[in-house]
Amino acid sequence: MAMHGKVEKTALVTGASSGFGLLIAIELAKRGYRVIAAMRDPEKQAALMQAAERAGAVGSIAVARLDVTDAETIDGAVADMLRRYGRIDVLVNNAGMAVGGFVEEVPMAAWRAQMETNFLGLVAMTRAVLPAMRAQGHGTIIQMSSVSGLWGIPGFGAYAASKFAVEGFSESLRHEVAPFGIRVALVEPGAYRTAIWAKGFAEMHGQPESPYAGPLKAVLGIARRTAETAPDPREVAELVGRLVDKRRISRLRYPIGRGARLLPLAGRLLPWRIIEAATRRVMRKGR
Ligand SMILES: NC(=O)c1ccc[n+]([C@@H]2O[C@H](COP(=O)([O-])OP(=O)(O)OC[C@H]3O[C@@H](n4cnc5c(N)ncnc54)[C@H](OP(=O)(O)O)[C@@H]3O)[C@@H](O)[C@H]2O)c1
Repeated sequence: MAMHGKVEKTALVTGASSGFGLLIAIELAKRGYRVIAAMRDPEKQAALMQAAERAGAVGSIAVARLDVTDAETIDGAVADMLRRYGRIDVLVNNAGMAVGGFVEEVPMAAWRAQMETNFLGLVAMTRAVLPAMRAQGHGTIIQMSSVSGLWGIPGFGAYAASKFAVEGFSESLRHEVAPFGIRVALVEPGAYRTAIWAKGFAEMHGQPESPYAGPLKAVLGIARRTAETAPDPREVAELVGRLVDKRRISRLRYPIGRGARLLPLAGRLLPWRIIEAATRRVMRKGR
């Protein structure tokens, strides 16, 4: 645990097989953390380990099997981490996926899967690390929210609902655990180039003769263009790295990326009818 007489800090990152999670695991390892890179299928660790090799961080990263919808794997990974290092300084609740489709056409099973992963999975992870963090008297929990946690766009109601839930939960949590030295922050990225888009497009819910076909096509067109031109996700990993190393995390919300600051501001300043008219204009383009 100790190197050069110094206690090494530890971090647990969920969804570390790809995208932000992979990059955050590398970023924290480069910053000197012992990282548990948690993924539901450890057979998907090749990309992470290659990136770790390039970054010279292989020795600082251990892979753990953890599905955020499976309580046994959560408890197992947290207990292993405590046995191995004796502490959990940082939890990055990153695992997530995006269910797409208009409300009427998304089956209940998909709504449940969305909430189980993005929201209840994050709640379960948070609850699992709190006893150790409280006992230590410190800890940092980074919640991967989204601009969709502040702004519900048509065609992504399930995703928005899950991220709005993450926002409300984290706001309450921050108040509750601050007296124990535990810090909570929400990272709210706009669109970034990761696998989440392709996975979401592949599983878009829609009916063949759908009355929503036009608007769905319009929304998907915008989402595709956004995904293709989205910025490098390393920016988000670097933000998480800077946050966990801060002496004080003074804000609850850290928006980052295209539109992430502007959209919530517009949401607060513009009258609702303007927002609605603009959204309807966009959806009409698909007809
Ligand atoms: N990319 C963006 O534009 C964007 C913007 C805002 C917020 N976000 C958020 O950022 C987070 C990471 O997404 P990403 O963009 O990096 O996408 P990604 O590359 O698809 O990564 C998602 C990760 O979550 C994992 N995951 C999914 N379900 C899981 C479960 N039940 N248990 C454990 N892990 C699970 C995936 O594992 P598998 O490899 O096994 O599927 C994968 O490692 C998500 O919370 C997402 O909502 C993304």
